[in-house]
Amino acid sequence: MEGAGPGPGGRSGVVTAAARLAGSLRLPADKSVAHRALLFNAMGAGTATVRLDRPGGDVLSMARALQALGAVEDLAAGDVGVTVATVRGGGTAAAARLPGGGGETLDCGNAGTAMRLLAGALAGRPGTATLVGDASLSGRPMERIAAPLRAVGAAIETTDGHAPLRITGRRPLLAMAHRPAVASAQVIGCLSLAALAAGGTTTIEVPGPTRDHTERMLSWLGAPVRRDGLVTIIEGPAGFAARSLTVPGDISSAAAWLVAGALHPDAEIRLVGVGLNPSRVGIIDVLREMGADIEVTLDDGDGGDGGDGPPDHPEPVGTITVRGGRPLRAIAISGDRVADVIDELPLIGVAMAAAEGRSELRDAAELRVKESDRIALVVADLAAVGAQVEERPDGWVVRRGQPREAAIHTDGDHRIAMAFAIAAVCGVAGTVRIDDPACAAVSYPSFWTDLETLSR
Ligand code: S3P
Repeated sequence: MEGAGPGPGGRSGVVTAAARLAGSLRLPADKSVAHRALLFNAMGAGTATVRLDRPGGDVLSMARALQALGAVEDLAAGDVGVTVATVRGGGTAAAARLPGGGGETLDCGNAGTAMRLLAGALAGRPGTATLVGDASLSGRPMERIAAPLRAVGAAIETTDGHAPLRITGRRPLLAMAHRPAVASAQVIGCLSLAALAAGGTTTIEVPGPTRDHTERMLSWLGAPVRRDGLVTIIEGPAGFAARSLTVPGDISSAAAWLVAGALHPDAEIRLVGVGLNPSRVGIIDVLREMGADIEVTLDDGDGGDGGDGPPDHPEPVGTITVRGGRPLRAIAISGDRVADVIDELPLIGVAMAAAEGRSELRDAAELRVKESDRIALVVADLAAVGAQVEERPDGWVVRRGQPREAAIHTDGDHRIAMAFAIAAVCGVAGTVRIDDPACAAVSYPSFWTDLETLSR
């Protein structure tokens, strides 16, 4: 079979090697930025519009939860075209607050970011709400946010440390110095939103680097929030006016094509309108270190509107071009570097299986509590496609093997499905059959059609 061959919309889940990968793409809205654009505006004063190109299932879970609170209207979903969400905030210029009086049950679906950020926002809203999620989300650790939210005065009931979460908020909350054990941007985002309802200075000091979308967007909205090294500082109580924005393309979705372009012997792929937050571009550094040919051009520094006025976007945006045909070297990833590529590690596992030499991932135990146990699944699926791989408690060791056909188990995890489709397209695997191709839509609804567009 020639081309990617996933069948219409990838519904068959069968993927084979492409003869060539070429073309230009715009990516769906960045998941991390979209969650924050919707939720923070829902806590602001007044109305804003949030433009989202092909929002994934996780972003739609957040939007629908905010719709249930009365904050989001005019939401149209689809796997092509832009969705414009109109968001009516429940706060004032002096006090950020979600609308709604309590009694709501909000379904976060598969989205850990939605659940953890909403929990922080609801902690400062008097009334009780219940957050529920799918089977995967209901297995993920929530005590990391429940314990500090209780410490600042909210009542949080978990189910053995997991969702469903029953949250009774109050105002004011206490300001305090938090020291979370995990370096998680979701935990920082959660506690920052609660801190907006607290009287005084809250600090959140994490043990390692994380993405800083919360700090960027809250300060862009005018809230007194800043990041100093590993510490986030919030002066509460605070509010801000809602502000419209267009969410940039998701670099974690672009990563599929960066890896595909780097691994394929005959590829040239251009990705436009991609969010280039410095805490998210680790995938570019990793692939360059492995020997890939990648070019990055920033749109003008204010986020791409071409104006000289005040920054109109909290995030840098630009174009990335990748060209294939170069041999790749092995790489070792550990320590602080892991956070820079946390969502790209399944794809990096595939790149490691294409490289010359022994590659290693360490210090990535957090991967075991993502949408699936990503260490166990990447190791099992890499072994299935013929790579030489060893599992470690906090990572893996990978060497190139003899590519073979395989059935890919995803556990419904979007990043696993996409990583192993890319493995097959580039010939790192033989033909694969992905058990749940539809799960890609959690972050990338047009993944399969984009794959067909690029495949020759
Ligand atoms: C996210 C943070 C990361 C990432 C997730 C999105 C965010 O999780 O894996 O997909 O938007 O804050 P942690 O920072 O909790 O590891």
